[in-house]
Formats: sequence, C-alpha cells, structure tokens
Amino acid sequence: MKYTRTLIFALLVILVAACTERKATTVGSDPEVEKRIGELISRMTLSEKIGQMNQVSAGGDISNYADALRRGQIGSILNEVDPVKINEFQRICVEESRLGIPLLVARDVIHGFHTIFPIPLGLAATFDPELVSEGARIASLEATAQGIRWTFSPMLDIARDPRWGRIAEGSGEDTWLDARMAEAMVRGYQGETLDTTSMAACIKHFVGYGAAEGGRDYNSTFLTERQLRNVYLPPFEAAVKAGAMTLMTSFNDNDGVPSTGNTFILKDILRGEWGFDGLVVTDWNSMGEMIPHGFGTDRKDVAEKAVKAGVDMDMMTFGFISHLEELVAAGSVKESVIDEAVRNILRIKFLLGLFEHPYVDVERGEAVQYAEAHLEAARRSAEESAILLRNDGILPLDPGRIRTILVTGPMADAPHDQLGTWSFDGQKAHTVTPLQALRERFPGKVVYVPGLAYSREKRERFDDVVATARRADVVLAFLGEEAILSGEAHSLADLNLIGSQSALLAALRSAGKPVVATVMAGRPLTIERDLPNCNAVLYSFHPGTMGGPALANLISGDVNPSGKCPVTFLRTVGQAPMYYSHNMTGRPYNGEKLLSEIEAEAGQTSLGNTSYYLDYGACPLFPFGYGLSYTTFSYSDIRLDSQSYPVDGTVNISFKLSNTGDREGTEVVQVYVRDVVGSVTRPVKELKAFERVTLKAGESRTLQLKVAVAELAFWGLDGVKKVEPGDFQLWVAGDSASGEPVAFKVK
Ligand code: NOJ
Repeated sequence: MKYTRTLIFALLVILVAACTERKATTVGSDPEVEKRIGELISRMTLSEKIGQMNQVSAGGDISNYADALRRGQIGSILNEVDPVKINEFQRICVEESRLGIPLLVARDVIHGFHTIFPIPLGLAATFDPELVSEGARIASLEATAQGIRWTFSPMLDIARDPRWGRIAEGSGEDTWLDARMAEAMVRGYQGETLDTTSMAACIKHFVGYGAAEGGRDYNSTFLTERQLRNVYLPPFEAAVKAGAMTLMTSFNDNDGVPSTGNTFILKDILRGEWGFDGLVVTDWNSMGEMIPHGFGTDRKDVAEKAVKAGVDMDMMTFGFISHLEELVAAGSVKESVIDEAVRNILRIKFLLGLFEHPYVDVERGEAVQYAEAHLEAARRSAEESAILLRNDGILPLDPGRIRTILVTGPMADAPHDQLGTWSFDGQKAHTVTPLQALRERFPGKVVYVPGLAYSREKRERFDDVVATARRADVVLAFLGEEAILSGEAHSLADLNLIGSQSALLAALRSAGKPVVATVMAGRPLTIERDLPNCNAVLYSFHPGTMGGPALANLISGDVNPSGKCPVTFLRTVGQAPMYYSHNMTGRPYNGEKLLSEIEAEAGQTSLGNTSYYLDYGACPLFPFGYGLSYTTFSYSDIRLDSQSYPVDGTVNISFKLSNTGDREGTEVVQVYVRDVVGSVTRPVKELKAFERVTLKAGESRTLQLKVAVAELAFWGLDGVKKVEPGDFQLWVAGDSASGEPVAFKVK
C-alpha cells in the first residue's frame, strides 16, 4: 500500500513537472530523506508517533515541558523566542529523549521578526515580489538566528471586505497578485536551497477564511466549489508549487464543513490534485472548535475527524495527544494514518536539517537583528508600499520654500502602532516614527502638536493645533488606526476615521494652510468625507520599523511614490464587499443618477434599473491598482502580436509607456483580461500580469509583456479547468478602471 502510494506520488510529481513551466517543487522528492524517515518511523512507538503530532505553546518555564519532551510527547512548540531556552528545549529532545528527534520551533513571523516590514497588505501595494521576497529572507535570517525554523506565514486569504480585521495580514482582494506574493514569500522564507537560515513557510488559512460573512472574523463562509477553484485556491496552489513546506487549516466552516475536518480540501485537492507532501497543522484549537461549530461531539470525536481529514499536527487542542492512542486501539483510526502524518512532520524536520543542526548559535543571533541592510530593505519596502491617493501639487514639499511644518495626529509618533498587527518581536525602541524622521529631514522646521493622543480619543476643540497651524506653512497630519484595531478578531463595522480624527482634519482645514494627511491603517478606511479637507493623501498602511524615514523621503520628494491599491477603497462601508473583478451582471451599471440627483428633480425616488446603490452609485472611492506619482504616465500604441491564439499560445503585448512629467518615477503597469463569454459568467476583468517600470522625466519606452493563454483557464460549467475558446479583451493600464480594451480571440 505504502509503495503504491509512493509510486502514484512519483508519477504525480513527474506529471506536475511536465505540465508546468514554473519550478515544480515537492517537499519530499529526496529518496535519501524518505529512507531516513522510514527507518526512524520503524523504531517509534505509537505514543512517540502521536507525540510528534502535538504542538504546544511554550514561553515561560522550561520545567513545565521538560518531562513531556523527554518522553517524546511534543513534536513542535510555538511562542518561544529566547534562543537559550530554545537550545535547552532542543537539548532535552536530542539528548534525553529515546529517539533524539529535534523539535520544530514555530512563531508568527508575519512581516518581519525584529526588523518589521509593512503589514502584508502594504507589501502587496508595492507590486514588487522581489522586494517582498527579500523582506521574507531577512525575516528568516533574523528569526532562524534565534532558533525559529517555522513561520506561520504567508497568509493567502483573499479579502474583499475591509471590515475583516485580518485583511491587514494578506495581499488583498486579487487572486493573481496574491499568488505572486505567495511565491515570493515562500521563496524568501525558505531560501533558494534549504539550510540553517531557512524557515519553513506555512500557507494559511486553508481555505476561504477571508470570505467571512459580514467581514466578521471567524464567521462562516459559503463559497461554491467554483469560487474556491477560480478565486481562493490558486494562491495556495502557486505556493505549493513554489515549495511551501507546511499549511494551516482555517477556523471557518465553508458550506457547513469546518476546514480542519474537511477531507475534500485537505485530501482530494491538496494532497491528491496538487501532490502536497508537506505538513498540515491546525490553527490554534481549530480542531477543538469543531465542537462549538456543532461538527463533533467531544474532543475525541473531533480528533478522529481531523486526523481522518488529513491533519498531521494539532496546535493547542490536545486532541491527538489525548485520544489518538485509544482511537487506534479501538480500530477507529488505522495506525497507517498516524504513520502518514508523522512522515509528513519528520520530512520537514529532516529537510530543514534539524537532525544535523538542532542548536542555534546564541551570539550570532544577536548580531543579525536590525542589521543595517535589514533596516534599509524595510525602508524601501515602506516607501514602495505607500500609495499617493490625492495630490493637488502640495507634495512633494519644497524644502526651500517651507519654514514651519506642523506635525500632528495620533500616528505621528506612535512607535508601536506603526508596526501593525502581528509584530510580536519588533521593538518600539528601534522604530523610527514620522516625527523623528521629519525632524531630521527638516531640521529646525518641525513643530509638533499631537492634537489627539490616540485615534479613538474624543475631542471637540482643537484650539492649540489650529493656532499652530495658522503659523505654519504646511500641516502634516498622521491619522489612521492603531495596530490593535485590525488583525485577528478585530473586525469593524464602521470604517470612517475613528474617534475625532475627521474633526481634527476639519479644524486644521479652517486654519487655511495646506493639509497633507498620511493614513496609517490595517485596512482601506472610508476616507471620502475627509478628502475635501486634504490637499494630499498618502496611504501608508502600517509601514513598520522604518515607516518614519520612508514617509519623510516621500513627503520631501527624495523618493517618488509608486504604491498601488491592493484592494478597492470604498466610499462607504455599506458598499462592502466591492471588488474590481466581479462578475458581469445582466444589468450592469450605466451611470444612472443617484437619489440625491433625482430628488432635486420632481421628487422621483428611483429610475434604477441597473446594479448600483441609489445613494452611492456603483463605483468605489479608489479602484484596485490605483495610485498616483509625483510624475504622470501615459500609455499608447498598445498592440498584440496576433488577433487570435491557440489555447497553448502566448499573448505578446507591446506598448509605449511615457513619463509625461518632470521627474523620474516608477509606474506599476497592469494587464487585465476579460473572457467575454464563458460556459459560466466571468469577471469583468482580471489581473494577469504586472511590472514595475522606472522612467526618467520625459522618457518613453516601448515595453513587452506576456500573458500565457493557459493563465486564462478557469473552472467552467463542466467542472474542468480549461481555456474556453472565444472572444477576449485586454487592457494595459495604470489601474483596474482605466484604459481601452484590445480584442483578441482564442481558437
Ligand atoms: C491563530 C491565527 O489564526 C493564526 O494565523 C496564527 O498563526 C495562530 N493563531 C498561531 O499563533
């Protein structure tokens, strides 16, 4: 049986390798490693095997765990970052347990370990996979130097509802962008080849978690198989192909089946279709939570369901360690199922080289943290992640003409909060805030009046700030939300600037001086009502350790903004979920009048026969892909190399991009495609390629981009993924709402 599976698997590997151009990576294609795993398993007792399947949260007193480690009852720990303690945990496992199996030490290293990069949503705004990969590599260098060899990242949940606080942790709303970021992060964490600086990536949360109903965290999802396959699964598949070593099941139930007990996604798709032979871990107690879900009666029941569905490791339910032995003894779970899980776990330990190098060099660990090159990469990432949403010309500030700058707002000097959610290990003392950086960039010119001590503070009068604004040449207001307002369990139903921040902006406006707002937040907030009070708006999400210097460089014009919206910015929360790649309705919006316009005409309330909101229309505040620069770009001469392509062909696109302004800048060129008629209705357009291009002032360049026709395949009516021949349209533009389509056919 074991050999048949190995044979089938080997065939699958060959098949995958033959069918794709990307590096076909399977975690376990090393026969030597497979042999070592087999030998080790043959020496393990059932109890030791089940011990490997148990992950516990450490932190604190080692003596609490020493005995269990010695008896081989813990396969992995999370939440210990002290290298001395980690070494001691390892020593007990390696030297004092019967078989000497090292521990897999995990941590949520989500956007940097000590050096904190922008939150993942901000990283996605860079549209720069290379830079994102570099950031992940740096996170690995820092974390592995302290003994952490497994990170619970990247989060690949497509998020189309900004109420969901965890939108901060992913790449936003788009499947293609998410998949490219997924590959980049996996590459960065694990490295090109596995060595002691490799941290196993964990792609999460499998699957659909970001589609929580109402944007409320942990809520149910109701995704059809087609939506899963066309929208939610491709980033996971891309990450698996890129070699992701581990995967985490999600908290949600989709269409009634909690992911941790979902055989269809874990076995049929992940293992069967994609050939994944890495490690599957539950989310924190997500096995236990199948009880309140109403999917299992007690911990024994859910342990059985999870292991049979394909879970290898239990994070913090203690269901496997407490019940698997009796389940095997009773014949309810076959020992071969346990063997398979242990095989998947040991494979990661062998591949990471833990058997050869279980210990970490404590001194090296210290030296690596916050290295100059790391801070530099964090600064570049923060620069590229900032999106210029509005600018009447006030930015960049002209240092020669500005004598006094008022810096204000709750995020101007909030060293912890600019780090964003999931930055456990980033230290406040190393964070450079905008206030600090601006004082350095504009010596003697900065006056700081906080206005609001924190975002939620309620205040009606701002006399002190307004008086200072009157004396200043420009006002720089740093607004948004603290780290704690986004992230896990932190969903919001109101997405306007919280507290009295809008009132602060209005008060600043009354001083009559130009106001530049920089918003730091974990999500796209609804800032429409604030725009009239701003001459410019920079949206920087939570930019991390080097957010201050990055923003000072952008504001001063030393760096030209190039970030683009990785998610649609809504006018009002009631528009959620709104995303650019929606399906075409039978009654697409045609610019019909709003209620306010109609009321002015004879009190008639509605003529609406198309898909829109009477009060807010059908358009967002800023579309996906949007972002300004201090220069301007124009697109022309967009040509395809043919009018029709075979299904295995490649669309070669050429176009001219011109920098029509007076300074160098970087444009994120985006290619969108629409499949005009399908066996099922198709999105109005979907991103299929992007590239960052830097042009000098006045420069024009003819550029080429490619889209493989195979990338236009989708899961149609017959449940088969394929390209459906017919008419297509293609746009090359600077955002998802611009440009003119070029037609082509697939035959
Ligand atoms: C729960 C979160 O959902 C998951 O993303 C995280 O990795 C685990 N806790 C471990 O901290």
